[in-house]
Amino acid sequence: MDKRDALERIRHFVNDFFTDDTSGHDDVHMKRVASWAKYIAIKEGENPFLCEVAALLHDVGDHKLFSDPAQAIQQRDKLLMDVGFTENEVDTIDDAIRTVSFSRGAVPNSRIGEIIQDADRLDAIGAVGIARAFAFGGSINQPIYKEDEKDAISHFYEKLLKLRELMHTECGKQEAERRHQFMLQYLEEFYREQECREETSH
Ligand code: ADP
Ligand code: NI
Repeated sequence: MDKRDALERIRHFVNDFFTDDTSGHDDVHMKRVASWAKYIAIKEGENPFLCEVAALLHDVGDHKLFSDPAQAIQQRDKLLMDVGFTENEVDTIDDAIRTVSFSRGAVPNSRIGEIIQDADRLDAIGAVGIARAFAFGGSINQPIYKEDEKDAISHFYEKLLKLRELMHTECGKQEAERRHQFMLQYLEEFYREQECREETSH
């Protein structure tokens, strides 16, 4: 297989699906996750190419992003065969992707699955994660911050601040720690600015 050509065709396929997304699942998310998955794989002695490819494709067929997930998955697997992956490799990639999602509570059953999940979770935390939480919140008409309502700030407590403890790889844990501290700092500043406004508003 010509790996460079395969990657180019896969990136093209990913661009076609995600380039117009404004909910935090655009092609740039896929590329960041792919680049972290590749980096973690190298550190972990796993197959960096398979991890990069699976990460690039990890949101293809996600139920909240696709009206016909089964068809998208079929197209994805056809592309993988076309660019030269064996049936066995396609199964490995399918398996890793199926176990990535936080909202579906999936638990990976392979090292590749764990690496993709770590890379995807890193993209939900830190500076990028904060941006994505507000973008996603906006896409479902959720307020930034509002008492007694489900808002983007509450998502930090429901998910984002829990992810540090759920990382699988050493390298993922280290990066998650840094991003976790940054989110804590961000929240502290957010409340400070919020309080100032409240103190002077009555
Ligand atoms: P996964 O694919 O792992 O299930 P999601 O697709 O639910 O994750 O989340 C994608 C991005 O949107 C993440 O950055 C996540 O933190 C953010 N997100 C998901 N639900 C909410 C929400 N209710 N409010 C704000 N951000 C959210
Ligand atoms: Ni993702």
